[in-house]
Amino acid sequence: MSLKLSVVGTGYLGATHAACMASLGFEVIGVDVDHAKIEMLAQGKVPFYEPDLEDLLAEQIKSGRLKFSKDFKDIADCDVHFICVGTPQVKDGIAADLTYVNSALETIAPLVKAGSLVVGKSTVPVGTAARLRDRLIAVNPKADLAWNPEFLREGFAVEDTLRPNRLVVGTTNDQAEATLKEVYAKNLADGIPWIRADLPTSELVKVAANSFLATKISFINAMAEICEAAGGDVTVLAKAIGYDPRIGSKFLQAGIGFGGGCLPKDIRAFMARAEELGAQQALEFLKEIDSINLRARQRIIELVRKDLSDDLKGKKIAILGAAFKPDSDDVRDSPALDIAAQIQAAGALVTVHDPKAIANAQKRFPALNFADNVEKTLQDAELVLHLTEWKIYRELDPAKMKSLVKNAIMIDGRNALDRTAWRNAGWKFRALGRADEMAK
Ligand code: UDX
Repeated sequence: MSLKLSVVGTGYLGATHAACMASLGFEVIGVDVDHAKIEMLAQGKVPFYEPDLEDLLAEQIKSGRLKFSKDFKDIADCDVHFICVGTPQVKDGIAADLTYVNSALETIAPLVKAGSLVVGKSTVPVGTAARLRDRLIAVNPKADLAWNPEFLREGFAVEDTLRPNRLVVGTTNDQAEATLKEVYAKNLADGIPWIRADLPTSELVKVAANSFLATKISFINAMAEICEAAGGDVTVLAKAIGYDPRIGSKFLQAGIGFGGGCLPKDIRAFMARAEELGAQQALEFLKEIDSINLRARQRIIELVRKDLSDDLKGKKIAILGAAFKPDSDDVRDSPALDIAAQIQAAGALVTVHDPKAIANAQKRFPALNFADNVEKTLQDAELVLHLTEWKIYRELDPAKMKSLVKNAIMIDGRNALDRTAWRNAGWKFRALGRADEMAK
């Protein structure tokens, strides 16, 4: 008989995991302490924007395989329980806040049946899984806990969950591994690499991967600083080094840097944990990665100041993009929104556009002005900033846009627009890391 699965925590990770597991044919029940979220999901509605997820969710609910409940007792007869709750940054430091993970475990430990497997998917500081496993076994000696980190990218959540590039399973128990092989049988049949590790290694894989990605982005942004100083062009440099297969061309897009709910908080929590372990020196470099990343935001604000004679007071500035990346409505630690807020705080009159993230951005920064279309955003602007590389911005007609603004100055914070087309239409075009553009 097919396994019955539960998903504890139905945010980005959990809602996607639940819908995807149901689509593989499993019976799945999702639970969360946030009742409003459960009510929405039960009606087939996703509380955030993620391409393809709403259709999949509605389809799986209709099939009867996917259910959501406010009552945690409803998970009792499941065979496998995935913990998918968030681990945000603590309010008063750089460590991860484990409140939700701890309370999820405490809630389900006495409920799960003998022989069942609890599987952590949340990103946690190394050592958490072993501690949670001890606690689970103390309460429920016939259950076990394994770790199975999730690598999904926002904007590709369904694709990444159904077709991950690897599966990592932290357990020393053969039976637990066999159970997870049953859950991921389709991926295994498709030849997706399967890596069995011990608990600490499986937790570390996730933060190591995110630290590497953050390092790659900050590396290219450091090169952007050097290109500006030396008269080079970082986009050409990135292309040239990217052809080396040992380097690879992905994650070398220079600009205003990384944000979101994962990369920034994961590298910080990793540093905090290394310090607890007495190994802080090994991750000292991540401090620099964080600084380079935050410096990119200041560097673009300096460009704005340069173009507006260092006086932002009362200047009308249009900002294209609020989400931390395209195809997402997530504004957590969004570089775009941070820059918008800082420019506004310096006295400018900022209007922000985003195809999906305005509602979330408005909740975060109610004092900013928002417009629901690009034309309104650009009307009479004295400078335009392109900060999230949505496809619709690449498709704008520069000549038409020029007729709307007061000054045709475009600063591309993502190195994603066609500068020749914008220049040919009469725009002064600037971008981070391209000295040529600074000069004009
Ligand atoms: C990331 C990891 O990629 C994923 O594997 C993990 O599970 C969660 O964290 P995500 O937060 O969805 O996923 O975003 P990602 O696509 O990695 O982008 C992160 C940030 O880096 C974005 O703000 C993006 O704009 C920025 N970025 C990315 C760059 O500035 N340059 C690049 O070349 C690539």
